Amino acid sequence: MSSRDDILTPGRVAVITGAAAGIGAACAQAFARLGMGLCLFDRDADALDRLSAQLGTLTEVVTVTGDVTSAEDLARLADTAFERFGDVAVLMNNAGITAGAGPWDDLAGWRHQLEVNLFSIVTAQSLFVPRMLQQDRRSAIVNLGSKEGITTPPGNAAYSVAKAGVKVLTEQLAHELRSAGGDKVSAHLFVPGYTWTPMNIALKPKGTQKPDEAWTAEQLADYFLGRLRKGDFYILCPDNVVTQEMDAKRIEWAAHDMIDNRPALSRWHPDWADKFARFMRAQD
Ligand SMILES: NC(=O)c1ccc[n+]([C@@H]2O[C@H](COP(=O)([O-])OP(=O)(O)OC[C@H]3O[C@@H](n4cnc5c(N)ncnc54)[C@H](O)[C@@H]3O)[C@@H](O)[C@H]2O)c1
Repeated sequence: MSSRDDILTPGRVAVITGAAAGIGAACAQAFARLGMGLCLFDRDADALDRLSAQLGTLTEVVTVTGDVTSAEDLARLADTAFERFGDVAVLMNNAGITAGAGPWDDLAGWRHQLEVNLFSIVTAQSLFVPRMLQQDRRSAIVNLGSKEGITTPPGNAAYSVAKAGVKVLTEQLAHELRSAGGDKVSAHLFVPGYTWTPMNIALKPKGTQKPDEAWTAEQLADYFLGRLRKGDFYILCPDNVVTQEMDAKRIEWAAHDMIDNRPALSRWHPDWADKFARFMRAQD
């Protein structure tokens, strides 16, 4: 693990998918405050224009409208970034949707979920990694995971499968990059806690205020930049309820489902509820 100070530096460039709202927009602002140039991609052209007008007072911003499920659109993004700036310091594969499906329903929902949240990242990596490895300067790839892809709570199987895929894909990427270029291009798995963005706002009745347990996207972006600067691979983020210690225990419990031959997802199994609660209360 080595510091990423030379990446988060004025004049270098961050490319962000799903940049027009939520976590992507907050990270764009945070990169702009560091004096970094921005190449922003989203399917929402109007929101991209508004963000670009706002951040254009701070730094150079180029926008590309497109859909991450289109290889042609992502190729346009890569060409624009390398041709306009001649540098990509950070590629942040952030675009995502929660819409999904249960284990035996909605095949079209499954395909769309996996196309947006997982396969788009494979496509982006195929377009960016070879060119990032050719650059003289160091760079980083940040993929957006989720705790739903790590401890995999029931409720949206397709989303959990996609995000579990992002975790494995990013771990594999990190390993292959170590072999290919030393620490020239690093990979990072960015796993937000509960963050108040349009994604979560849409799940609540209209007009709902930010719940106390959620972080703002700006809070999350600041925390993320601190961890990226340190060079962390797993950037697992807390929120106002779930601490790092709670995450660690939940991950430990989930790993022991297999080690101890428990039922799948025992955390949510009625016969295991008390044992899980006692485990979470225990000090070590
Ligand atoms: N908000 C959270 O609590 C939370 C928690 C864990 C992980 N995440 C992950 O963080 C990422 C960002 O989430 P968010 O909360 O900011 O979401 P959001 O819905 O608030 O914003 C997502 C942005 O991505 C864009 N987008 C969606 N599908 C696209 C597509 N096919 N092509 C191009 N652009 C597309 C949207 O237009 C929007 O601007 C996602 O990958 C999400 O799964 C979020």
